[in-house]
Amino acid sequence: MARGLVVLSSDPAAPRARPPGQVWLVGAGPGDPDLLTIKALRLLQGADVVVHDRLTPPAVLALAGPQARLIDVGKRKSRHTLPQDDINALLVALGLEGLKVVRLKGGDPFVFGRGGEEMLACRAAGLEVEVVPGVSAALAASARAGAPLTHRGLAQSVTFVTGHAAKDQEPDLDWTALATANHTVVVYMGLSTAPLIAARLIQAGRDAATPVLVVENASLDHEARVLTRLGDLAAAVSALDGPAILIIGEVAALANDLAEILPEFERAQA
Ligand SMILES: C[S@@+](CC[C@H](N)C(=O)[O-])C[C@H]1O[C@@H](n2cnc3c(N)ncnc32)[C@H](O)[C@@H]1O
Repeated sequence: MARGLVVLSSDPAAPRARPPGQVWLVGAGPGDPDLLTIKALRLLQGADVVVHDRLTPPAVLALAGPQARLIDVGKRKSRHTLPQDDINALLVALGLEGLKVVRLKGGDPFVFGRGGEEMLACRAAGLEVEVVPGVSAALAASARAGAPLTHRGLAQSVTFVTGHAAKDQEPDLDWTALATANHTVVVYMGLSTAPLIAARLIQAGRDAATPVLVVENASLDHEARVLTRLGDLAAAVSALDGPAILIIGEVAALANDLAEILPEFERAQA
């Protein structure tokens, strides 16, 4: 057998060591229920218990079956209602009870969602755990705004980063790499650190005139979009509450209905 190759036995006679419960880490998408996957919908309808975050819209939760118990473990920045370790322990406890547990996570569970930690906790407890991908906020924001994350001639690459920083610290990012032109930088959790992010990128050589699209509540009825420039980003986001995503790069100028704000970029759309 080739070194490093792991063969999983599918022998039906092999004793099953796993407890009967199962946990699904399910991407709930950015908020619009129409952006749920069919698999997410099916799992919600069959779940015994749905563990969800504060931002999960009621319209998504309404798709759970009538038998499902809904548990809100919502977190608000600096005001955690349930620490991550307790969420992990809750999922394990529910799974070990033999329940069908759906852990609904905003966007995609594996994009800045701590889904990996929840998966590992369930695995360590011997539970079967399956991850169901969801539409991440960046993808929804870019699609709705008509600003592709990559585009021939404008962006050959895209990097997803978190703008979150521990108290009194800065986001730990490679500013030089992110300052490369024709490269899209998507910032999650970057509203409060947007002024600092803009300053660091400009210091590292990114043009202050680089377009930035900010999308708040992407995919929801109250979605708001702001098109600005890196040099004006701090002022542009000051009135926003979030959740919001920052799309920094030449592609942002392709956003629907917003191009007239940055007329010199109109040629990019031709
Ligand atoms: C903890 S991260 C979770 C990301 C999520 N796993 C995903 O794939 O979209 C939360 C951040 O995602 C972004 N976000 C989530 N939902 C959003 C939405 N509907 N519109 C804009 N940004 C959103 C914001 O940057 C927010 O601070």
